[in-house]
Amino acid sequence: MVIKSTGDIIAISKKAANAAGDLIRSSKPLEVRTKCISDYVTEIDVECQKIIKDMIIEKFPEHNVLAEEDGGEFCDKNDLWIIDPLDGTTNFIHGLSHSAVSIAFYTEGRIVTGVVYDPFRDEMFSAVLSHGAELNGVPIKVSEAKELSQCLVATGMPFKRKEKAGEYFDCLREILKKTSGVRRMGSAALDLVYTACGRFDCFFEGWLSPWDIAAGVLILNESGGRACDFRGENNFLRNGSIIGAGKNVFGSFFKEINSYLEGSV
Ligand code: IPD
Ligand code: CA
Ligand code: CA
Repeated sequence: MVIKSTGDIIAISKKAANAAGDLIRSSKPLEVRTKCISDYVTEIDVECQKIIKDMIIEKFPEHNVLAEEDGGEFCDKNDLWIIDPLDGTTNFIHGLSHSAVSIAFYTEGRIVTGVVYDPFRDEMFSAVLSHGAELNGVPIKVSEAKELSQCLVATGMPFKRKEKAGEYFDCLREILKKTSGVRRMGSAALDLVYTACGRFDCFFEGWLSPWDIAAGVLILNESGGRACDFRGENNFLRNGSIIGAGKNVFGSFFKEINSYLEGSV
């Protein structure tokens, strides 16, 4: 067994998320760089990542780190921290207080712990594999919605992959017809945990990165929800496509998204 203690792992995840969150809450970005089309990074993303990595490396010097501002792709390693220091950078740049810190720990082929912290609302979402999910220490559950027509759906648009707009909007048109509404909030990590606690009933987005979704997927699964990629498989950390929903509507929601987007993974 490679995992030392999930207690230590989740404690350091929360401590690091709080420290980065303090900086996000008290800062305004001064310097915005464009990484590629519609993809921005500020000095706060970089500082937050340093704060988080320093805390993790001090406690677990032998562990591996996959963090957004270092780049890199997911590869299946033991003792791997998957970090998005600031999910929702575009919101942050525009003064929209809807962003989060996302920290997951992956080992032996599974995401074992996940923390998503919203510094603006002081909401700490967390989960440990097989031990349930919490919001500020209180257990959370997905919504009980039974019909798609009752569902509020969160999504993200392929703004970095504009060539995907046609197939995405064909799918979104159908979702809009069949559900009670759609929201585009600008943080995939928060979309997933909002689905975990029943604020949203369903979420889908494609062309993401592992750090956008690793922590949120565990939190959603541990709150009784279900998640898979556009093909119905568990390869979301590799291919960046994700469908998540409460257990009652997951099957019908998956069928809709899969029928439009299976081939675009
Ligand atoms: C982005 C947010 C956004 C999603 C993007 C992500 P970032 O992350 O999660 O909601 O639509 O695709 O890249 O760049 O703000 O960390
Ligand atoms: Ca992100
Ligand atoms: Ca980010």
